Amino acid sequence: MALICMVFPLILKRLILGSIRRCFLILYVQSLLESDNNLLRAGEDLDNIAVIGAGVIGGAIVKSLLKKGYEGKVIATRRDLEKLRELKALGAEVTINNKEAAKESDIIFLCVKPNDIEKVLREISDEIKGKIIVSTAATIPLNFYKEVVPHAKFVRTMPNIAALVQEAYIAYCCDESISPDDKKKVEELLSIMGIPQEVEEKYMDAITALSGSGPAYVSIIIEALMYAGLRVGLPRNIALYSAAQTVLGTGKLILETQEHPAKVKDMVTTPGGTTIEAIYELEGSQIRQALMRAIKEATDKCQRIRNELIKDVG
Ligand SMILES: NC(=O)c1ccc[n+]([C@@H]2O[C@H](COP(=O)([O-])OP(=O)(O)OC[C@H]3O[C@@H](n4cnc5c(N)ncnc54)[C@H](OP(=O)(O)O)[C@@H]3O)[C@@H](O)[C@H]2O)c1
Repeated sequence: MALICMVFPLILKRLILGSIRRCFLILYVQSLLESDNNLLRAGEDLDNIAVIGAGVIGGAIVKSLLKKGYEGKVIATRRDLEKLRELKALGAEVTINNKEAAKESDIIFLCVKPNDIEKVLREISDEIKGKIIVSTAATIPLNFYKEVVPHAKFVRTMPNIAALVQEAYIAYCCDESISPDDKKKVEELLSIMGIPQEVEEKYMDAITALSGSGPAYVSIIIEALMYAGLRVGLPRNIALYSAAQTVLGTGKLILETQEHPAKVKDMVTTPGGTTIEAIYELEGSQIRQALMRAIKEATDKCQRIRNELIKDVG
């Protein structure tokens, strides 16, 4: 009896401790399973993205998504697999099969040249029913896409190459079948590459000319400033860095303060100082008129390209 009295509490203690341990173990395993499920659910929620025609701008879109750690699938296509090697090394899935890429994806970026758009659209047509197609092609109007594939939903965008550093200005317009939820999704994706802004479609040619091609004009200005620096004796690296940072900083200043550029110019120009001497020279060079003429020419060219393309495919 004495033995039972001694052993019974020990057995009871072991049973209780065992049950507590089992409970903790079950809770721990359950929490692990739940966190795994959450990860799976997060993965399931994210749209798979295909970028068809991952050249300059398509490649920039893929790189932006990967750089920002987009966790959905990112599939890049071109006709030449070898040229997709860099994107593969960065983590994209790569293929030359546009149809397969479209089938695997929820949202498809169409980044081929305007004259390849119709061919590629017809190729993937069966795989994009009800899906969102985001085109970067200059000049092609929304009604053209809709005419070729009525059962898909289209967003026409005009990004620029600053998407490579997530600072693109991206104008976009949507066809009528894009719902508010679709638009939110697209905006979120475009935000990974820069600053999206919805605009009326009638402005797309002008935006193509201004901000789509804009990095080319600004690069000319930066290059010219750099050479100006070399001319007055600056070392090459200081000339380039000071020119590029000045363009970046001035853009940021105008955007953040929302001041008119003329006001910023005025802030820098002291009476009888150095800036006014430079401005006097610039005004004589008709730099403003040159930029206005350049952008008018590029805008008009959009219409000429469209006339040719729609006539060809029409
Ligand atoms: N570049 C810019 O700064 C910029 C800015 C805004 C908008 N955009 C617009 O973006 C589009 C692309 O311009 P981009 O400058 O990036 O041209 P790009 O470098 O020539 O890119 C187009 C890519 O499409 C691929 N391609 C052609 N046919 C294909 C097909 N059947 N299937 C799959 N891939 C195909 C080409 O690669 P393969 O030859 O290897 O197939 C090429 O890499 C254009 O419509 C342009 O208007 C460009």
